[in-house]
Amino acid sequence: MRVAVWGTGNMGRAGIRAVVAHPQLELVAVVGRSREGEDAGTLAGLDPLGLAVAPELPGGLDAVVYMASGDVRPGDAAADITRCLRAGAVVVTPSVYSLYDPTSAPASLRGPLDDAARDGGAALFVSGIDPGWGNDVLPVLLTGIASTVTQVRCQELFDYSTYDQPDAVRNSVGMGGPMDQTPIMVAPSVPSMIWGGQLRMMARALGVELDEIREQVERRALDEDVTNAMGLFEKGTQGGLRFEVQGIVDGHVKLVVEHVTRISPEVAPDWPAPADGGAGAHRIVIEGRPRIEVTIEATDEGGNRAAGGNATAAARLVNAIPWLRDAKPGLYDALDVPLSPAVGKL
Ligand SMILES: NC(=O)c1ccc[n+]([C@@H]2O[C@H](COP(=O)([O-])OP(=O)(O)OC[C@H]3O[C@@H](n4cnc5c(N)ncnc54)[C@H](OP(=O)(O)O)[C@@H]3O)[C@@H](O)[C@H]2O)c1
Repeated sequence: MRVAVWGTGNMGRAGIRAVVAHPQLELVAVVGRSREGEDAGTLAGLDPLGLAVAPELPGGLDAVVYMASGDVRPGDAAADITRCLRAGAVVVTPSVYSLYDPTSAPASLRGPLDDAARDGGAALFVSGIDPGWGNDVLPVLLTGIASTVTQVRCQELFDYSTYDQPDAVRNSVGMGGPMDQTPIMVAPSVPSMIWGGQLRMMARALGVELDEIREQVERRALDEDVTNAMGLFEKGTQGGLRFEVQGIVDGHVKLVVEHVTRISPEVAPDWPAPADGGAGAHRIVIEGRPRIEVTIEATDEGGNRAAGGNATAAARLVNAIPWLRDAKPGLYDALDVPLSPAVGKL
């Protein structure tokens, strides 16, 4: 299948590697402006591929791995995706949060995508790691090896000093920002917008109805100045952020997406941290009998945990492309799209 990767950032690099590694996919284009002219292989930390990053998407594609950011441009990202679907290309992307659970997406967003998928005869899958497999297929799968389940908790535990996204770390997550100002990521209703779909998908898979979705936020100030690759984070500003998005069933907290984020490992030592002391982990805890705890510690790009997590998100998407090509045209969620084993890669 002729595949293009659109985007050259963290997810774009991981997407290039995942496409190149897939025996059924051929990387024919990489789209981006800031890295225009660079070799796509070199950009992704591979041997040169003889394929230069170009500003425009070519025609005749079977699939587009859309890794351009949709964070501050969800409408533009949805328009790009619509165009690709209408041209008949399968699209996989992590970039539009309200489409992770298409069932609960606003009709104004979903409608044009449905039409384009039908007209082009193509399928769309929007997913990632968290939101993504860390709070959809993996926890749901693990409930299948439990006798009783009283709660499903999905944790992302990260030291963001190693996350190559200074803008997101400071402005969205609020690290180094004033304690009297709520960061955008945890402004009321934002966590539910990003992770609510994950709770709804888990609830559907487990056959329960959510009464409501609640948000809980806790923040910690830095006791002293911290300096890292992103510069200075001053004493007294935010150094830790912990929040939960909770799915309430019959009045009880049954499904939880929890994020524990620090700008340095010393912040909030009483909060959960990766068991091996590393910079990041995803952990699923199935409370019940037996109690089940599974931790995923992925690394990439020189041992970096954030890059490792992004690489799993990219692989989940890219590995779904052959299944999506054979699926009926339309929008698919993580419960529809099977986790494809690494056939032909060993
Ligand atoms: N759920 C998950 O697990 C997960 C994990 C990581 C990221 N994400 C999402 O994935 C997306 C990409 O993240 P990232 O970490 O790869 O971001 P990034 O490293 O900042 O890269 C951003 C990419 O978006 C492109 N871009 C930025 N502004 C654009 C614009 N106005 N028009 C067109 N393209 C534009 C850039 O284009 P150029 O190539 O021209 O520079 C670059 O390729 C984000 O929406 C992020 O929220 C989700």
